[in-house]
Order: sequence, then C-alpha cells, then structure tokens
Amino acid sequence: MIEFINVNKTYPNGVTALNNINLKIDQGEFVAIIGLSGAGKSTLIRCINRMHDINEGTLNVDDVDVSKLKGKQVRDYRRKIGMIFQSFNLVTRTSVINNVLVSVVPELSWWRKILGLFPKDKKVIALEALDKVGILDKAYNRVDQLSGGQQQRVALARTLAQNPSIILADEPVASLDPVTAKVVMDDFKRINKDLNMSILINIHHVELALEYADRVIGIRKGEVVYDGKSSDVTQDVLDEIYGSITEVPHMDDLEEAKV
Ligand SMILES: Nc1ncnc2c1ncn2[C@@H]1O[C@H](COP(=O)(O)OP(=O)(O)OP(=O)(O)O)[C@@H](O)[C@H]1O
Ligand SMILES: [Mg+2]
Repeated sequence: MIEFINVNKTYPNGVTALNNINLKIDQGEFVAIIGLSGAGKSTLIRCINRMHDINEGTLNVDDVDVSKLKGKQVRDYRRKIGMIFQSFNLVTRTSVINNVLVSVVPELSWWRKILGLFPKDKKVIALEALDKVGILDKAYNRVDQLSGGQQQRVALARTLAQNPSIILADEPVASLDPVTAKVVMDDFKRINKDLNMSILINIHHVELALEYADRVIGIRKGEVVYDGKSSDVTQDVLDEIYGSITEVPHMDDLEEAKV
C-alpha cells in the first residue's frame, strides 16, 4: 500500500510541485494520474521511489516511511519498485535478454555482464518475464532492432524480472503510435490482473487513462483535484483538472501576439 499523508514537495528553486497530497493506494490497484504539463505528475511518482525527497508529511510504502530510508536501504527499497519511463532506458547495443538479466542479477560483476556470463537459472527468470509480455521470440535480438512498442515491453519485462510489488510508469506510451500504445497498455492491464500488481501510470492520453485504469487521480498545480473511479469521470471533472477552455490560449490570440 502507498500512503501520502499531508505531503509537500518544493524544489530547491522554490517551485512547489506537490501541495498537501493525501492519498491511499491499495495493493493491486491500477491508477492513472492525469493533469496538465507541470501539474506535478512525475514529481508524485518520483517521490515514491525516492528519486526525489519530500519536504513535509509522510510517505509510507507497505508500512515503511520511505523518507527515513538511508544508503543501502534505499537501494534495496528501489528494487521493490519497478520504474518505467517514456524513453525505455535500455542498453540498445546488446540483446533483449541481457537487458532483462541486468535487473535479475544487479550484483553481478560488470565484466560478467559485458560478456553475457549470466547463471542459467537467472536466464530462466528473464525468459519467463519476456514471455509474460509476449516477446519471448525476441530474447536474442539486439534491442536496437526492435520497434518502440517492443522496446517498451522489454523495459516492462526487465521491471517484472526484479519481482517488484509496485510498478510506476511515467508516460510509458507517450512516444508510441495509438495502436502500439494500446498493446503496451494491454500488457500493463494483464500484469495488474494476473499478478495483483499495483500500477501507477502518468499519462497524457485521457481516453487511455479512462479505458485502462480503475481509478483516476487528477492533479492540478500540485494538488489532487479528482480522485475516483475512471467510470465516474465527467466533462466537468476534466474541466476541473485541465481548466476550462477559456484559460487555454486561443490560436487567434497567438497569431495576434506575433504581429
Ligand atoms: N528537478 C526539478 N527542479 C526544479 N523544478 C522542477 C524539477 N522537476 C520539476 N520541477 C517543477 O515542478 C513542477 C511539476 O513538475 P512535474 O515534472 O512533476 O510535472 P508533470 O505533471 O510531470 O509535467 P509533464 O506532463 O510535462 O511531464 C513544474 O513546475 C516543474 O517545472
Ligand atoms: Mg512528467
């Protein structure tokens, strides 16, 4: 379970990215976080895995106050939290399976990793993870021979192989075409259901958020302005999250400003 209690996050430059956040997310929930650019979505996710530290409040994950963790505890904790990025973050000049294996045996010496000298039983774990996202047949391909969608599935397999209890994903489908985006979202959904995995996804595509997530959290200027079932999201809710259309600059105004 993830629990935010009165959490504030202000960056050193004075920007308050999270303002009094209170949330409780249970094991096995599929949550989409939506909001305008700069609303605080990435900050929220990155505080959970300690990429960023909160300034005030309490952030508990599975009853552990994550801000109290230090050094090796943070590294061990991070292994429980899978993280997926828009840019996949893979080593593209090596094989798919080697990318997954690095997360199965992070403690292996660098030269064994480079030479691909991984223990056999670990290879089985990596292959199982690739099977779960439907790209077992690509195990021995080089990553740079794969499409964007396939690369994101490798990233997902790598995360699964580390056996996390939560997967955080920051715009995982933002650079994919609409059809491939759905293939990847299907993977997230299947993993969520089959493994009772908690999944938190930052996503700009509202329609995908509503289709796939059970729960939507809308953030505006660092505050939670909606938290509820995706099936209960109405146009009024979207206006609350994104602002009414009058607040968005109109193209004509932009053209005038240029003259
Ligand atoms: N490392 C940083 N240092 C200072 N300010 C930051 C930093 N990261 C984010 N911010 C600021 O914090 C606020 C929230 O940013 P955040 O990246 O969390 O938004 P976001 O909702 O993920 O936006 P996007 O949809 O564009 O990814 C913004 O005002 C941003 O400029
Ligand atoms: Mg972001």
